[in-house]
Amino acid sequence: MKGYLKIFTYGCQMNDLDSQKLYSVLYDRGWIPTTSTSKADLIIINTCSVRQKAYEKAMSNIGRLRKNKLAKPDLVIGITGCAAEQEGYRLIERFPHVDFVQGTHRLHAIPDTVDNIVLQGKTHLVETGFNQYIPSMDIVPSPGFMQPKHRAYINIMQGCNNYCSYCIVPFVRGPEISRDYKSILEEIRLHASRGVKEIFLLGQNVNSYRGGITFHELLGMINEVNGIERIRFTTSHPKDMSDDLIESFAKLNKLCPHVHLPFQSGSNRVLKYMNRHYTAEHYLGLIEKLRAKRKDIALSSDVIVGFPMEREDDFQKTLDLVQKVRFDMLFSFKYSPRPGTSASRMPDHVPIEEKKRRLSVLQRIQRKITKENLETWVGKVVEVLVDGTSKRDKSQVFGRIGQNVIVNFPGSPELIGRTINVLVTRANPNTLTGEIV
Ligand code: 5AD
Ligand code: SF4
Repeated sequence: MKGYLKIFTYGCQMNDLDSQKLYSVLYDRGWIPTTSTSKADLIIINTCSVRQKAYEKAMSNIGRLRKNKLAKPDLVIGITGCAAEQEGYRLIERFPHVDFVQGTHRLHAIPDTVDNIVLQGKTHLVETGFNQYIPSMDIVPSPGFMQPKHRAYINIMQGCNNYCSYCIVPFVRGPEISRDYKSILEEIRLHASRGVKEIFLLGQNVNSYRGGITFHELLGMINEVNGIERIRFTTSHPKDMSDDLIESFAKLNKLCPHVHLPFQSGSNRVLKYMNRHYTAEHYLGLIEKLRAKRKDIALSSDVIVGFPMEREDDFQKTLDLVQKVRFDMLFSFKYSPRPGTSASRMPDHVPIEEKKRRLSVLQRIQRKITKENLETWVGKVVEVLVDGTSKRDKSQVFGRIGQNVIVNFPGSPELIGRTINVLVTRANPNTLTGEIV
């Protein structure tokens, strides 16, 4: 044993998966996971920089670790993830108690970096920058570090070529790189043989997957893998949502009836400034096609309010779209300028008070829609893949239905990993409550 390891993870599912991989490879080198920060001998902060808030949360955590280093000089502190890629040496300058910074293409190198620091006392190591091949995409997390064990998150591509004007992702994750489909299928078959039930494909823009076959072909192949019951994916771009992919929702029995399709704004004027390459009309057309193929499909989305130059009438168009589509779940954000992006250099930034107002108007409308959509489930029997025991009440378990809605119901931990028929008895603001039938 080399010592205890703790990883702090911020941001999206891609970062969660990267942390699962890091735990796995570092465990193989003798690092034992701990939840205690003071006990840890190695602390890694896996950062996010997509919005100001996520970025600052990670930064203040790094700042707080200074006192841990003072109390325990042998403590090794490392930073990875999107802010590591973005800031590089600046992080060492700002936080001299940090020992290493490894960017988003350098996850695989972290075990060796840690060895160099521990064995040879090398410190202040910084490595960022992009390559043609991202070795960590092929790392398979060990079952012990998968959360929950019956769901495998699979990185099928990384990076983005779209350059939406507000978005930092192309700068911190690099250009689109797809993983070879053979490696993906090999990993999925391995997970299936270990009892994994659900495959969750991840990429910043899965529709432009080009790893030897197309995305919908990949879905078709995964659908054939024995033992796998459910397939999900995120994130999609409306401009790349092909008819073949839409058709998959009718054709593939294991593909869950849920799409996360960010629309970002309901105003064509703002969409143009955002460099999104579609119109609100095109977006609504896609929703119509999806619903025609699969009428029970659940829809979720992301939207930004207060983009530079967004006027009241643009904002109203966003509200219109939200009311037309009636999303099951909507993630809404106040625009925050990100360094290096073209939107950060645009004129007429919306005052913060106005952003807050727009966000609260939008969220009030969406809360009502979410609740009304959830109420349509009451009285129905649904299939729940059980994920775990409820944090608040140990006599309850929770899981998800195909539409990605969380259902809580009385049950014992033996149900985890099984698909159970549940009668929905109540709709809560964001979840459902039920009982086993
Ligand atoms: N400001 C606010 N929200 C943003 N997002 C991405 N960049 C920004 C930004 N600069 C939102 C988008 C995206 C989600 C992951 O985060 O809605 O889909
Ligand atoms: Fe955050 Fe985007 Fe990086 Fe995910 S890919 S951690 S959302 S900046």
